Amino acid sequence: MKTAVRYYTQTGNTKKLADAIAAELGVEAKSIDTPLEEDVDVLFLCNSVYWAGVDGKVKQFLKSPGARIGQLVNVSTAALIESTYAQMKKLTAGAGIPLSDKEFHCKGSFKALHKGKPDEADLAAVKRFAREIAG
Ligand SMILES: Cc1cc2nc3c(=O)[nH]c(=O)nc-3n(C[C@H](O)[C@H](O)[C@H](O)COP(=O)(O)O)c2cc1C
Repeated sequence: MKTAVRYYTQTGNTKKLADAIAAELGVEAKSIDTPLEEDVDVLFLCNSVYWAGVDGKVKQFLKSPGARIGQLVNVSTAALIESTYAQMKKLTAGAGIPLSDKEFHCKGSFKALHKGKPDEADLAAVKRFAREIAG
């Protein structure tokens, strides 16, 4: 199974998840500034929420990912909301990209909230999640 990992981060939290997934799967986590170089079966898209919305750069990436995505798996951090899945569902539907019903979410530190998150336990959990998806 061909997999890839892309992330968007402003303060580094989401990149931690992306790097953990990539290490588990033996691929490189790249920022969404790097379009996909080849078609993939599964894309782990690691993202977050800023003032209630997914960043415009993530929306732009979904419109033009660079290659065909068999299935997108949403991976997110946030301080308050439980997931970016609902937003991602609309965005992927608009872009014609199949979205997996499986997702990973954990808290991300923000100002005084959730210090140290994602933590080691989150990174271990996202690695298990990636392994389950990738088989
Ligand atoms: C400018 C800014 C705005 C944010 N707005 C929200 C928000 O509306 N809802 C929420 O749940 N978290 C919000 N957060 C918290 C982030 O979603 C959380 O810190 C996340 O882990 C950031 O990921 P990153 O470090 O990969 O950028 C905000 C963080 C920043 C920096």
